[in-house]
Amino acid sequence: MTPEARRPYIAGNWKMHKTAAEARSFVERLAGMVSADSVDVGLCVPFTALAASVEAARDTPISIAAQNMHQEPAGAYTGEVSAPMLVELGVRGVVLGHSERRRYNGETDRALQEKVPAALLNGLEPILCVGESEEEREAEETQRRLRHQVQEAIENVPDDQLPAVVIAYEPIWAIGSGRVATPGEAQEAIAFIRALVGDRSRAAAAAVRVLYGGSVSADNAVELLAQPDIDGALVGGASLDPENLAGIVTAAG
Ligand code: 13P
Repeated sequence: MTPEARRPYIAGNWKMHKTAAEARSFVERLAGMVSADSVDVGLCVPFTALAASVEAARDTPISIAAQNMHQEPAGAYTGEVSAPMLVELGVRGVVLGHSERRRYNGETDRALQEKVPAALLNGLEPILCVGESEEEREAEETQRRLRHQVQEAIENVPDDQLPAVVIAYEPIWAIGSGRVATPGEAQEAIAFIRALVGDRSRAAAAAVRVLYGGSVSADNAVELLAQPDIDGALVGGASLDPENLAGIVTAAG
């Protein structure tokens, strides 16, 4: 599959922002600014805003994703949410392994090894986040970190389902810092991630979409998205404003 054949994907990750009412009016505004012609548009919203967002996004090009889920379908896990619960709401995808969850909530590669196949089994599109810290980059350990994170997380995904996984390369030092990776740095890491998928299946490597995340804005998106292996963006801060996010979608089109 050529880069042109992989459909660009722009997803906003709101993190812990927006109430259900705020989400509804955001989705209504964004829907008037984007078309589904050539770009997939997603919003990863807090659990409490999922139902309102799904309802507002009906008959629009926007798909709604959650920001985490538990690997088990049900059980004694207070405070957790499972894949069947998300599917029932009409949610289409789920962010897994975001660095903020790894850092603040003890998310592990071992749990992700169960979460990624559990999402797929339930028909949810996993958006698997990987990325190195500043210290790891300086110590030239970026590839070692990415290899570990990617190989572990996709270990239990059958080869023929690998193309359904979306991977987001989010270097921790670029998140919320305004310090975006250069297009060359992002391309190099994302090509490496694609090659790791290729160690499992060449066909999957050609088809899997790998996004870049970390201080993406409407200003820097064009250059990033012009790189051959960068298939889209996972956008934090700039996704909180519909005009900004629509600008990034336009850059991807
Ligand atoms: P920022 O775009 O705010 O740097 O956040 C990136 C991110 O973490 C998206 O998941």
